[in-house]
Amino acid sequence: MTTYPTDLVTLEPDAVLCRQRDRESSARTYARSFPIVPVRGEGMVIEGADGRRYLDCLSGAGTLALGHNHPVVLEAIRRTVDSGAPLHVLDLATPEKDEFTDALFATLPAGFADRARIHFCGPAGTDAVEAALKLMQTATGRHGLLAFTGAYHGMTTGALAATANVAVKEPVAGIAADVTRLPYPYPYRCPFGVGGERGAELSAVYTERLLDDPSGGVVPPAAMILEAVQGEGGAVPAPDGWLREMRRITAEREIPLIVDEVQTGVGRTGAFWAVEHSGIVPDAMVLSKAIGGSLPLAVVVYHEDYDGWLPGAHTGTFRGNTLAMAAGAATLRHVASEGLAGRAATVGARMTARLDALRAELPVIGDVRGRGLMIGVELVDPEGTPDACGAYPAAPRIAADVRAACLQRGLIVELGGRYDATVRLLPPLVITDEQAEAVLDRLADAVAEVTSPRPAGRRS
Ligand SMILES: Cc1ncc(COP(=O)(O)O)c(C=O)c1O
Repeated sequence: MTTYPTDLVTLEPDAVLCRQRDRESSARTYARSFPIVPVRGEGMVIEGADGRRYLDCLSGAGTLALGHNHPVVLEAIRRTVDSGAPLHVLDLATPEKDEFTDALFATLPAGFADRARIHFCGPAGTDAVEAALKLMQTATGRHGLLAFTGAYHGMTTGALAATANVAVKEPVAGIAADVTRLPYPYPYRCPFGVGGERGAELSAVYTERLLDDPSGGVVPPAAMILEAVQGEGGAVPAPDGWLREMRRITAEREIPLIVDEVQTGVGRTGAFWAVEHSGIVPDAMVLSKAIGGSLPLAVVVYHEDYDGWLPGAHTGTFRGNTLAMAAGAATLRHVASEGLAGRAATVGARMTARLDALRAELPVIGDVRGRGLMIGVELVDPEGTPDACGAYPAAPRIAADVRAACLQRGLIVELGGRYDATVRLLPPLVITDEQAEAVLDRLADAVAEVTSPRPAGRRS
């Protein structure tokens, strides 16, 4: 038996995992793919109760900009606890909230921060998406929503309506109400079957024509919501020009543009906010994950002109998490002062280039894409029949085997995208050069092992 002493208990990892399997819901996700019991975390490394150490490229689904237990974050939490500050105060004013708001506004794109309002939401990205949708419905008096193929915006009713994943929507009655689905540019699996920049151009043309078509079936909507880089959708970046087109098209038709930066924010894509790459100024930004410095926090920030809510229009008990605000402010300031967005751009470009070179050697790698430290490696069946753009069929089984082989090699990677066939890399921004190399070595080794011919009689 491997034991792990802590103050209170002696852990037996297998027993913990068994109890989890027996007691938690069948909807549990990551726990199925990663049968480990984390007990320590530092930077990019987490350690299981069995003593094994893993390079964590999941980072709490993109939450941990500074990795696990960064000293700056721990210091902010300790200082706040030691100060005797109340830890939970609904939406009352506190010094920590004041400082968090200052820190956040200091990072927001120029032209947005000066006239922005912030609303603190229930501490999950999905609640901030709900808030943004309600805000724009209230402001415009309209109801419909424009959302994109491949999108992920959360699991509550409005956010799920905007989300594109059919399997999670199918069992929920009435979920697709009033959402017009538009084609998101995705060169490898182009919705128009043409790929490249032409696919993005057609997406913009289609969107504009559809909105202007009196028989297009689209009642003027309350908002358009999009991700500048789709995260759960498989690390698919939208071209900057396409984003500028979406901004133009929505502005000309007085449709508020909501950019969901829940996953792309705080340096992840190589800019502090992903909208900065294209220079667009949205009407609202939905923020969560990394803004809480590892603790739960979610906000919607929007142009003051839309602030037509009545008091209590979007309430929630846990909107005053003092520790999350302290940890979040410390994280935002550290990412900015240390130039970690730039670091994400540099390391991300290097990792993506090496993965692209690997693609030439390993035909199972169909596509490598991403922006900054939001990288996707789409695995395919190179013996299948390619589509009109030359994309081979997705290989979800190989992807799952690669994820397991990575775990065996001490590397945590999660899957996403169409058919869950894309390996997603979301390492913390503090990843070292050595760790980046180790991630790629282990991933390459895992892909090679999973796809190498096996001796007769063994599972393929
Ligand atoms: C872009 C985006 N929006 C919204 C959400 C929902 O956030 P949460 O899981 O905190 O509700 C996610 C979660 O992954 C996300 O990636």
